[in-house]
Amino acid sequence: MQKADLVVVANRLPVDRVTEADGSETWRRSPGGLVTALEQVMAKTDGAWVGWGGKADLEMDPFEFDGTLLVPVRLSAQELHDYYEGFSNGTIWPLYHDVIAAPVYRRSWWDAYVRVNRRFAEAAAEAAEHEAFVWVQDYQLQLVPQMLRELRPDLTIGYFHHIPFPAYGLYSQLPWRRQVLEGLLGADVLGFQRVADAGNFQRSVRRIFRYPTRASEIAVPTPEGGSRSVIAAPFPISIDAQAFIELSQRPEVRARAAEIREQLGNPDKILLGVDRLDYTKGIRHRLKAFGELLDDGKVTVGEVTLVQIASPSRPGVEAYQELRDEIELTVGRINGDYDTMHHTAVRYLHQGFPREEMVALYLAADVMLITALRDGMNLVAKEYVAVRTDNRGVLVLSEFAGAADELNTALLVNPHDIDGMKEAILRAINMPAAEQSRRMRALRRKVLENDVEAWGQSFLRAVDAVRRKRATGDPIPVDVKVKPTLRKKPRE
Ligand code: G6P
Repeated sequence: MQKADLVVVANRLPVDRVTEADGSETWRRSPGGLVTALEQVMAKTDGAWVGWGGKADLEMDPFEFDGTLLVPVRLSAQELHDYYEGFSNGTIWPLYHDVIAAPVYRRSWWDAYVRVNRRFAEAAAEAAEHEAFVWVQDYQLQLVPQMLRELRPDLTIGYFHHIPFPAYGLYSQLPWRRQVLEGLLGADVLGFQRVADAGNFQRSVRRIFRYPTRASEIAVPTPEGGSRSVIAAPFPISIDAQAFIELSQRPEVRARAAEIREQLGNPDKILLGVDRLDYTKGIRHRLKAFGELLDDGKVTVGEVTLVQIASPSRPGVEAYQELRDEIELTVGRINGDYDTMHHTAVRYLHQGFPREEMVALYLAADVMLITALRDGMNLVAKEYVAVRTDNRGVLVLSEFAGAADELNTALLVNPHDIDGMKEAILRAINMPAAEQSRRMRALRRKVLENDVEAWGQSFLRAVDAVRRKRATGDPIPVDVKVKPTLRKKPRE
């Protein structure tokens, strides 16, 4: 097999299997954020991407797609149940999102997680050139860094954690807390979304292993009796802001935005929620606040409409099935009480949409509601801000989303505080244009300066620093250790 200098390892391949009109099956690039985030990094080198093909039992040889070698990892239906729906999304996901739903600790799930992580590590080891850089992505693959280091000590290994890392008091529930930390510490650079996530991780390492840490540098003992520097630092992920701006300026997208308003009966204000249907997103809290505003007569159907896109997600996991039922019951009740023949209170769509349609929705929306109870970053917040080139529109943003650290001129809300959220929604609906513009300008500056290219560069700078230290003994520079995210010059 052809070997690569850069290998990305992620639970999913960056493509989806689609059936064409004639019944034949092909691959199409997935619309997800991770794909675009890494696209630019991959484009510069001979890259390979190791991941699951999205279907059970898919047995395929590596193949080339858009200049990248894709290496499918096979997962059986039982493994999907135990490793993906089970340990990844029934144990780690709720535990790391502050136990919003109860994590289930099941030993057979853990065994499958270990087995599948080993399979990913072996596939990456096979695909990597001598001294290549392997970049492991996210919580489904926390054991891969250490497994890979054992298989291939010549590699430089990065890991990026897209979701929150919980406080030690919660993390310590995990029966396999030592093994998971050991797995992660196999990396040279560990990236987190927020300062708080990196801090929580470091505290867990200190509590469990007592390894010394200095700023973002952790000294991890080696089997030879020495020590190895691991960087654990925040690298807040972002979007390709220019690509979103470009889309938002296309005449057909603008026309579609106008058409959406029209089709909703031209309400004065459109509120928008865009989420995967996940209990971390606070969709129920948002509906509660909106429903009460209707009950109180503070908003009126016809004047205000809430569009809620809830894209289908993890339907095999029980907590997601229950959430769907609850949301659909609530939406049905609100609409039953308040809809008229001409207007709806909540236009609810349990569907995924292509990026063009999402941008048209962002352009049509006067207020964007992001009320996550816990969220690693929330790129929807950044996408909404990027496309608002006229500096109009209001972002209501949960302080529990990673994006709140940077986007602090949004209307920040605590989604558990329903009254506070109702006030923020009313304030957003009634915000004078001058204030919208002042806030939006500041938000846009942050998103344009810290785009996904800056994110990739800052992570790779940290990787280079660790590599240099290993080769020449040069100390890790202060900017990498203390303030790894360096801003790029704005391009607009
Ligand atoms: C989050 C995770 C990703 C995951 C995505 C979609 O953003 O951080 O790792 O891929 O959700 O979830 P799914 O389970 O469909 O891959």
